[in-house]
Amino acid sequence: MDQQRPMWGSRAGFIFAAVGSAIGLGNIWRFPAVAYENGGGAFFLPYLFALLTAGIPLLILEFTIGHKYRGSSPLSFARMNKKMEWLGWWQVAISFIIATYYSVIIAWALSYSVFSFNLSWGDDPKTFLLTDYLQVGEAGAFGGFVPQILISLVIVWVVVLGVLIAGVKKGIEKVTKIMIPLLVVLFLMVVIRAITLDGAVEGLNAFFKPDWAKLTDGKVWIAAYGQIFFSLSIGFAIMITYSSYLPKKSDITNNAFITGFSNSAFELLAGFGVFSALGFMAAQQGVPVQEVVNSGVILAFAVFPQIINEFPFFNELFGFLFFASLLLAGFTSLISIVETFIAGVQEKFNVSRTASVLIGGGAASLISLIYATRGGLNFLDVVDYFINNFGVALAGLVEVVLVAWVFKQLDPLKKHADEVSDIQLGAWWKICLSVITPVVLGYMMFDNLRQNFTAPYGDYPQNFINSYGWTVAIGVILVGFVFMYVKPWKKELLHSSTSDKEVS
Ligand code: ALA
Repeated sequence: MDQQRPMWGSRAGFIFAAVGSAIGLGNIWRFPAVAYENGGGAFFLPYLFALLTAGIPLLILEFTIGHKYRGSSPLSFARMNKKMEWLGWWQVAISFIIATYYSVIIAWALSYSVFSFNLSWGDDPKTFLLTDYLQVGEAGAFGGFVPQILISLVIVWVVVLGVLIAGVKKGIEKVTKIMIPLLVVLFLMVVIRAITLDGAVEGLNAFFKPDWAKLTDGKVWIAAYGQIFFSLSIGFAIMITYSSYLPKKSDITNNAFITGFSNSAFELLAGFGVFSALGFMAAQQGVPVQEVVNSGVILAFAVFPQIINEFPFFNELFGFLFFASLLLAGFTSLISIVETFIAGVQEKFNVSRTASVLIGGGAASLISLIYATRGGLNFLDVVDYFINNFGVALAGLVEVVLVAWVFKQLDPLKKHADEVSDIQLGAWWKICLSVITPVVLGYMMFDNLRQNFTAPYGDYPQNFINSYGWTVAIGVILVGFVFMYVKPWKKELLHSSTSDKEVS
């Protein structure tokens, strides 16, 4: 099977796919809200620190692993050392969980793109969102499907699985090459409009104003690492899978820098756009910016429509541009998230690509239905928090510790990256991965765990947090071990990473 490994058609094709994966809901929907909740400008320092000492170095690491071992995340780790396979499955399982709710947010964006045509959210977008659209019920209760969400969700899954069945080159590459430039154009229009609104400067001041006291809080640092990892698509199998489709003669380090900086540039752009718009809204209402900021879901789907309502002209157009951007950004990321488990299942169980898309994608789409119920928003909020803080960030930490310290793979990986790349990796890369990231992220993880045990997340009942937060976070680790032991790899497959033929 390894003989028929799919390949990207060109370097640009790979970069578009990787950037398309990185730029997603994390940049537009998550980043501004996470930044704000964690001290606004104070978040900036941990964010930059996490980007430069962990994000970019890990991205280079994952590109190298995928390129060197040429397999899905589980197979690549198994080829590095058999005892590491579980880590690959753990990351794949994290992706699986993320896919189940990520698809639902894209479905909301699809609905809201349509609502934009006549501003269907009316004068009170928050009530519209919670009562009319999501029809939010009590935490822990499902409360039946919301038909409007269900229809959008089905459309999202049909298109995603269709693209994935078409393949790496003919599906993912083709789609991202069209969608990413389109996204940049649409989103730039939104941001330029936002920063030229009255009050934008006050919004940006609120965003950049540092709150130094927050810097001693582990929660803020974990939020920064979680955001960087989620946003760069690292720590959950994506970049390993994508780079495994690179031809042998491909640059790694330069591609990683291009991907990482494009993603952060877009994230900053989103921060500028969102906070300018918030400043505008605060100015319209004569209140401080702090009073109009809200958490993730409310920010994108209630505060933004409110802002759109108050725009001086072309309200429908800007509403559509914003939600279409969210849709495009999310879509190109969702295909990469689902690709991780499709590739894993295909290689481990030796089934065709179409079969693994239908098995993996089918299972994820069925589970995603949970979030199309009236209780969906509560499940989504808790699962997203736990899978990021104790899934993505923890898996990234374990990855660096295992690679750097337990299996001592940094030197051979550095050699591999240097052989194919224009930019040579300096000592900084090893220091970041073997010392700075484990120490800082390790300590912050510990502090965050302690805080979560003393004060549970959100206002949810403890048993709800246990059932859908901790169970999911621990469950994905167990899945890692189950998949590792369920069926050993064929010996030839474990040692055949150098025998690929390139097909589309
Ligand atoms: N990297 C993707 C995002 O930012 C998952 O949404």
